Amino acid sequence: MVSFFLAFIAVLPCTYSLVTPRQGVAFFNPADNGGSMLDNAGDELGEPLNVIISGLSSAGVLTESGFENYAKAIGFSTECLGIHIGGPQSANLGDGNGFVNQTVELRQDYGDPDLGTCLESLIGGNHLRLYIQNGPEGNSGALFLAVSKEEDAAEGHTIVPDGYDIGRDELSAAAIGTTSFGGVTYSTAAQNLTGLLPPGSAGVNHGIATDGITTLLTVTIV
Ligand SMILES: *[C@@H]1O[C@H](CO)[C@@H](O)[C@H](O)[C@H]1NC(C)=O
Ligand SMILES: *[C@@H]1O[C@H](CO)[C@@H](O)[C@H](O)[C@H]1NC(C)=O
Repeated sequence: MVSFFLAFIAVLPCTYSLVTPRQGVAFFNPADNGGSMLDNAGDELGEPLNVIISGLSSAGVLTESGFENYAKAIGFSTECLGIHIGGPQSANLGDGNGFVNQTVELRQDYGDPDLGTCLESLIGGNHLRLYIQNGPEGNSGALFLAVSKEEDAAEGHTIVPDGYDIGRDELSAAAIGTTSFGGVTYSTAAQNLTGLLPPGSAGVNHGIATDGITTLLTVTIV
């Protein structure tokens, strides 16, 4: 008993220093600390991080597994049979972690979380990459999403014209209001932000221009 107690004390300070508590803000602007609202798709171009799930959302949404359940509630699921198409992209969210590969990539599931993403892989559809702002210099816990609408497989999964704005707006439209999956019910509110991304196509992958809007979603488990 005594040795257990001593071991506990010995472990405590170490645990403390490893865990940076979430900071009670919606998100930090990556550009304020050396990051960017464009991810890195290679060739010095990137996809816009055009949706942010606020760090003020319920904690149960702000983990990889929590987000995957939420994503299923709004029509996205893991990739077809776990088959991954294309290389990972990375992002620097200005949180002190530098460039980090996407946590996960999800596709529109056409109403079937198990096999629908296979259909997306064939006929195209909406698609997202997830990055989590959780580094030691900016632990908002916010989820940054690069959302884009893709062509079908014959077109090699390139982005449709205006595909970033369309992808963002379709995801937001599916998310706003009350949704549920796996016994969890979500209430989602949206707000459009300007000034994080410049409008236009400078630095944007495939040269597809955007309107520069980032949609902030606050998701509450009800
Ligand atoms: C991302 O993953 C690729 C492939 O696994 C790897 O080569 C690359 O170094 C990773 N990039 C970062 C920033 O971790
Ligand atoms: C955000 O902007 C897009 C594009 O103008 C619009 O379609 C959408 O309804 C807006 N969303 C909100 C919450 O204002």
